[in-house]
Amino acid sequence: MSKLAFVTGGKGGIGTAIARALYNAGHKVIVSEYRQNKDTKEWLEQQRHDGYEFDVVQVDVSNFDSCVICAQEIEKKYGIIDILVNNAGITQDSQFKKMTVAQWRDVVSTNLDSVFNVTRQFINPMLEQQWGRIINISSINGQKGQFGQTNYSAAKAGLHGFTMALAQECASKGVTVNTISPGYTATPMVTAIREDILDNIIKQVPVGRLAYPEEIGALTTYLTSDHAAFITGANLPINGGQFTSF
Ligand code: CAA
Repeated sequence: MSKLAFVTGGKGGIGTAIARALYNAGHKVIVSEYRQNKDTKEWLEQQRHDGYEFDVVQVDVSNFDSCVICAQEIEKKYGIIDILVNNAGITQDSQFKKMTVAQWRDVVSTNLDSVFNVTRQFINPMLEQQWGRIINISSINGQKGQFGQTNYSAAKAGLHGFTMALAQECASKGVTVNTISPGYTATPMVTAIREDILDNIIKQVPVGRLAYPEEIGALTTYLTSDHAAFITGANLPINGGQFTSF
């Protein structure tokens, strides 16, 4: 059955693949971007050309008031969000000994505070209608840590703590909450890593390549399906075997 989905950071590498996968599953998909920029029109045209129709809204996920306004507009125009994918995220890599307060705060507020700011807007209607899917996009680096990413690893690890706690609060109400932890994925965020460093990272992936964004989209779509109703509070790694744990 067609649902209403909201993907934050939906124009990015993984975000676009998730939006497309949800659309392919028959859902209406709204994506968010930080601010409207000149590539928005181009992005929408490309999606249309490839057969996808998305609506784009602007929101600063690191700002609670911005999320309040965005959610009010969404509810007025489209109704209740059934599927929320908290995907928006940034990196500002630096060795900790050189990290600035701004690098710490920007990454933690965009990657972790955002999950409170956004989810808080949509949780009550989901609970009332007794159906909802919340998926938080974390990272392999939240599970294993990464040189140069104390800010990002802390925020991404925090995300799963949020998932586990909220899952328990929502389990009896038909709302599941899960984390997906992708490994290094072929997106602009990853291909921006210095070439020698990236080559070295790929050598550490037993499958021998980066993840395809579509693989993250497919897992997200599965978690939103009725078949996944018994999966909640889980952290699903999708990392080509680069990091394994119980
Ligand atoms: N472990 C141990 N030591 C390391 C290391 C590692 N992984 N990486 C670098 N070092 C060492 C280097 O060998 C070097 O040592 P010497 O000074 O003795 O030569 C020293 O640390 C400095 O290394 P750099 O030249 O790389 O330092 P820098 O300050 O110029 O750059 C950095 C630091 C920006 C963090 C850079 O190392 C980098 O970009 N690393 C990759 C970080 C990364 O993986 N980011 C992921 C982005 S994608 C993403 O986040 C998506 C996702 O979810 C997976």
